[in-house]
Amino acid sequence: MRDQSNVIDFDAETLHALRADAPACESVIHFNNAGCGLLPKPALQAMIDHLELEASIGGYEAAAARKVQVRDFYAAIADLIGCRPENVAFAGSATHGYSKALSAIPFEPGDVILTTRNDFISNQIAFLALRKRFGVEIVHAPDLPDGNGVDVAAMAALMRARRPRLVAATHVPTNSGLVQPVAEIGRHCRELDLLYLVDACQSAGQYPLDVEDIGCDLLTATCRKFLRGPRGSGFLYVSDRVLTQGYEPLFIDMYGARWVAGDRYEPVRGAARFEEWEFPYSTLLGCAAATRYALRVGLERISRRTPALAARLRDHLAAIPGVRVLDRGPELAALVTFDVQGWRPEPFKAAMDARGVNSALSFREFAQYDFADKDVEWALRLSPHYYNTEEEVDTVAAMVAELAQHGPR
Ligand SMILES: Cc1ncc(COP(=O)(O)O)c(C=O)c1O
Repeated sequence: MRDQSNVIDFDAETLHALRADAPACESVIHFNNAGCGLLPKPALQAMIDHLELEASIGGYEAAAARKVQVRDFYAAIADLIGCRPENVAFAGSATHGYSKALSAIPFEPGDVILTTRNDFISNQIAFLALRKRFGVEIVHAPDLPDGNGVDVAAMAALMRARRPRLVAATHVPTNSGLVQPVAEIGRHCRELDLLYLVDACQSAGQYPLDVEDIGCDLLTATCRKFLRGPRGSGFLYVSDRVLTQGYEPLFIDMYGARWVAGDRYEPVRGAARFEEWEFPYSTLLGCAAATRYALRVGLERISRRTPALAARLRDHLAAIPGVRVLDRGPELAALVTFDVQGWRPEPFKAAMDARGVNSALSFREFAQYDFADKDVEWALRLSPHYYNTEEEVDTVAAMVAELAQHGPR
């Protein structure tokens, strides 16, 4: 790994050290960071240490002993997204944070949710569930021609015409490398004072994020993907605007609220009102360590190297006969999607598995609008991260070329 040429933004020594912190790099080519990134050693160690402490002194006692480190989870996420720790709530997943956020909005029949055609599958299902239960109307802003993402001007016109109860946008969808202009959308939301929820699940840890710049009221992400935290963790950002306006989740517990009289409770002041009393403390500490790790590596640097590795992969794949690269957009993130003529999805992924390459499959139902527009039934998704190498990119592209040429056996 030390004598690589053409290393984007990281010198070979740094890259070597980063890879040593992710031992799986020795045995697999991990191109499934959009599924789950590799936990860096300090995050793993933080979790092991805490579990050992719980076993040796007791769970409640261990949490009390690590109070300062636990608080650093909030400070680290705040540093990552440009807010105060009081605006951050831990969540068991991005979806958990997203549902909690939606549950805080008192939807009424006829309310409009304005979203995009590329919002994440579970968010779209949640909107449909809200429609079923409360009679809300779901409006999808149109896309620009040629799959270039949402048409912000058309979306802004819909904001003015329909005055949505909620505007929701996914920064980077799960089904392609598209990067949606969330800050541009946010500027219209701020101008019109509309509630704005952003899903930053695939961008957290891949790009610098600044909630003030994005102009969102609520933002959700998982910790396990490009942020490289443990599974079962995520967070929800809640703006001061939302907190002072009294939004609270539908089900609020003894941690999120105080039971001040027999018939009354009061939500706590900060985003903690979106949390519950019970926490997976070791997971929280693992997330704090992973987030600090990402901040040390540097989000600006990560955002240059990671999408650039994906671009290199896309260039190789686009030149292979029978391979159709599916990503469209003016700016593309490190999610590379493609299909291969003559192959069924599962055997193709199995062939990649057998060659030691971690990847993921996407199907039509993950992206009803996007995949219908592209007329695809399935795609293989390869998602490198900064700790992957140019050499790995080239090796994987050569494997795809070999499989595409010879077809299923
Ligand atoms: C864009 C996007 N949003 C949300 C999620 C859901 O995240 P979680 O599985 O942590 O709920 C995903 C997961 O793939 C995603 O890609």
